[in-house]
Amino acid sequence: MIGEQKVLFSGMQATGNLTLGNYLGALQNWVSLSEEYMTFYSVVDLHSITVRQDPAELRSRARKLLTLYIAAGLDPKKNCIYYQSHVSGHAELAWILNCFTYMGELNRMTQFKDKAAKHADNINAGLFTYPVLMAADILLYQADVVPVGKDQQQHLELTRNVAQRFNAIYGDVFTIPEAYIGKTGASIKSLQDPAKKMSKSDENPNASIYLMDDPDTIIRKFKRAVTDSEAQILYRDEQPGIKNLIDIYSACTQKGVEDVVREFDGKGYGEFKLAVGEAVVSVLKPLQERFAQISRDKDYLDGIIRENAQKAEYYATKTLRKVQKKVGFPERVH
Ligand code: TRP
Repeated sequence: MIGEQKVLFSGMQATGNLTLGNYLGALQNWVSLSEEYMTFYSVVDLHSITVRQDPAELRSRARKLLTLYIAAGLDPKKNCIYYQSHVSGHAELAWILNCFTYMGELNRMTQFKDKAAKHADNINAGLFTYPVLMAADILLYQADVVPVGKDQQQHLELTRNVAQRFNAIYGDVFTIPEAYIGKTGASIKSLQDPAKKMSKSDENPNASIYLMDDPDTIIRKFKRAVTDSEAQILYRDEQPGIKNLIDIYSACTQKGVEDVVREFDGKGYGEFKLAVGEAVVSVLKPLQERFAQISRDKDYLDGIIRENAQKAEYYATKTLRKVQKKVGFPERVH
């Protein structure tokens, strides 16, 4: 709690081009949560260097992601939007928590196993302790809730375990965070293989809608989306392609799934796909326009970045000093 409000923390990496899945599954939810909670939304650049990055590209993508947070509707006066690397407490707390996390626990992380297989030439220690840095992100702000996708739930569970272990030794230092799993769009699937999640790292460009895709590209990708030969628009697991399109249409228009099914009863797949494409364009076009507008105002953005880093630093330092004292580091003499 900060004041009267519960605290919410989440973060995204600035690697790859963000997709419609990231927007409908995460960002759009973040906006809807920003009234109820005291929120910290980080661009987690420390996490990004666990795989090799081009420095100029990482910097530029990080700024774009931060801009996108604002363009998506997060008011930077109310939501603390900042770069993880601007608050040194993340790395400092991560070190301490490393000493309270077991190798065995980290060895069980499925994302580590996947990433290690994918980057076999660079299985660095940072990739292994990635979840500890994530725990530090969350615990540093005493977060009550953390909106995460399915793929991050194991990391959140580890965060809870480490926090409980620490509290059992030193008293109530950390708030134990809960997962917040969004109601809509939690899992937008690939347009080419609805068994897979829509991913920013998919090699097939037709599989994902990127947030910066132009209207023609969007419509074309929906026209090519994989469906089935059932010729009926129903929301059921036997028709995963159609189900995904219904989810997307529903999330973009804010209409309930049942209403969508009723709206397209008896209609053909071609007509439906076009309607889904148009609904997506009507969400992404204004987003792209706001993005362009904010990007142009360099001084405004720099101000936001500076102010929010200071705000994050203030809360982070509070927790960090407490932790440092608990573990036995000497107090600072002023
Ligand atoms: N690991 C998360 C991801 O790749 C990003 C992340 C880093 C995060 N720190 C976090 C998410 C803290 C939630 C809370 O999606």
